[in-house]
Amino acid sequence: MPSLALVRPQPAAVAALPLPGAPVVVMKFGSSVLAGPADAPAVASDIYAEVRRGCRVVAVVSAFAGETDRLLAEARGLGLAHDNPLLPAYVVQGEERSAALTALACDRIGLDAATLTVRELGIRAEGPCEHARPVALDRAVLAQALARHEVVVVPGFGALDPDGRAVLLGRGGSDLTALFLAAELGLDHVQLVKDVDGLYDRDPNADPDARRYDQASWAEAKARGGGLVQPDALDLAEARGLCVEVRNHADGHRTAIGAEGAPPRRVPPRRRLKVAVAGCGVVGGGALSRLLVDARVEVVGVLVRDPAKPRDIPGFPAEALAPLLVDDADALLDRGPDILLEALSEADAGHAVIRAALQRGVDVASANKQAVSRDPAGLLTLAEAHEAKLLWSASIGGGAPMVETLRAARAGGPVAAFEAVLNGTVNFMLERLGDGASFDQALADARAAGFAEEDPSSDLEGLDAAAKVRLLAFEAFGQMPDEVDIPRDVLSADAPPPPGARQLCRCRLDNGRVVAEVRLVAGALDPLFAALNGERNALKVIGADGSEGRCRGRGAGRWPTAESLLADLGELAARRFALQDA
Ligand code: NAP
Ligand code: HSE
Repeated sequence: MPSLALVRPQPAAVAALPLPGAPVVVMKFGSSVLAGPADAPAVASDIYAEVRRGCRVVAVVSAFAGETDRLLAEARGLGLAHDNPLLPAYVVQGEERSAALTALACDRIGLDAATLTVRELGIRAEGPCEHARPVALDRAVLAQALARHEVVVVPGFGALDPDGRAVLLGRGGSDLTALFLAAELGLDHVQLVKDVDGLYDRDPNADPDARRYDQASWAEAKARGGGLVQPDALDLAEARGLCVEVRNHADGHRTAIGAEGAPPRRVPPRRRLKVAVAGCGVVGGGALSRLLVDARVEVVGVLVRDPAKPRDIPGFPAEALAPLLVDDADALLDRGPDILLEALSEADAGHAVIRAALQRGVDVASANKQAVSRDPAGLLTLAEAHEAKLLWSASIGGGAPMVETLRAARAGGPVAAFEAVLNGTVNFMLERLGDGASFDQALADARAAGFAEEDPSSDLEGLDAAAKVRLLAFEAFGQMPDEVDIPRDVLSADAPPPPGARQLCRCRLDNGRVVAEVRLVAGALDPLFAALNGERNALKVIGADGSEGRCRGRGAGRWPTAESLLADLGELAARRFALQDA
């Protein structure tokens, strides 16, 4: 991973993340993958996957499809020529609009995202106002934004001339923006996310015998490119020694364009993966609304208790969903899925369908912490015995990558302890109660927002948090506590919480024994926890050597949790595709 020395994070309470030294990735999304507002969630998913890997992301975006032409036509309506020096300021609004929407889509799933305008980003460029060449960057603004946020979304295509006026970097100029930023940040590679899976020796749509490069030289890319990467951008890559990864939006296939090339090869056609979903409520329904428009997969069935119940799957008509619904786990698995996404609200039913799937060699991603925390070691053993994989990131922390943070910490050395806020409902209610809401109203709001469990006493009595602590302890120490110590009155209508209280989970290794508790804590809290508003959750891992790992995010709700489940699906899909390619 490339790394970058950046300015230290600001000392403000909410700026605990991202940690200094986290690798930075520059990703560019053009109008082939960000054609309009409906594509923003899928772009946010690509960004989320990198953040989950521990990176900060600079996302460079183009205007939505047709937007630049529309803006140019509007200007031409006034009789303006392309080289009118005032025109670029109008045109770059297209990129600034898609940047703002992409940041919103990131925020929806709990990523800490910010945007910069062309003026704030401050790329300096020289030459014709519609085809200028970037020459300098005031790195301080971008570096500060990266120090404060996980994701910084910036408009491509635009820059500023020596007089501070907006200029354009030529058609396809967002590629150039991304490469220039990567080079100025001292990175050695950049990702251009496209709707094609790499560079081919001829047009794969016109010729089925076209061969794909896994690796191509800059010169080869220029010769074969056919507009895949802006030629100016390839010149810059060669001049600055940057590897350009042309990456597929759908399944991550990529061609690495750099100093060395390799002969292209035939790519065997892939079949779509068959995915079954257990649960069609807050989480399962959210995942389904994304899966049903995902080119990688075919949804083969959806397990529910009551197929006749009305369903709300955004963008998908109820009558189209009906043939997918089943109320029997065996009937679901008989449809032959490669992967099961499990988001049932019942622990027993969830545990049973996970076991049944693994026994058939089906990979599973689960959001059901009560099911997977029951016997994680046993489930993993079962998975291994049947050459299947089981992932459970979505079970803990909603969209906050807690499992990944713990695994990264553990990979760096033994873990001594961790502390965490692990229940979105309780954190949300504590804020509402602090604002003067009644207990019943705060709970009703948490339920309406989709944060609470089907039986919310699990949230209020600390049992939901306890299940998550057990699973995190398993990740941290390879064993779970015998019991999690929870006082009776963790959060109840009868005992108003002290101002600023948080439901804090603590877990540590004590003479080889795992000790864990869930408590309502007020007073001197780590700013990481004190700053958590709404349904947000956070985790702090302390290594035996005193090192710290942290993460935070939206701890509950449809979109963050579905995102985590889909990121697990992405990992499982990559494994299945690799098996297909082998
Ligand atoms: P939900 O809205 O209540 O949906 C639960 C779904 O499970 C429903 O579709 C229900 O079917 C189905 N179901 C329950 N028992 C079943 C059974 N025995 N057989 C077949 N289907 C059954 O729950 P949710 O909020 O999506 O949560 C799902 C899981 O994700 C839970 O384990 C929860 O702890 C976990 N989770 C939730 C969140 C969150 O923010 N909501 C976040 C992280 C993890 P019907 O629709 O027919 O009733
Ligand atoms: N009910 C859970 C919570 C859902 O509020 O945290 C996320 O696991």
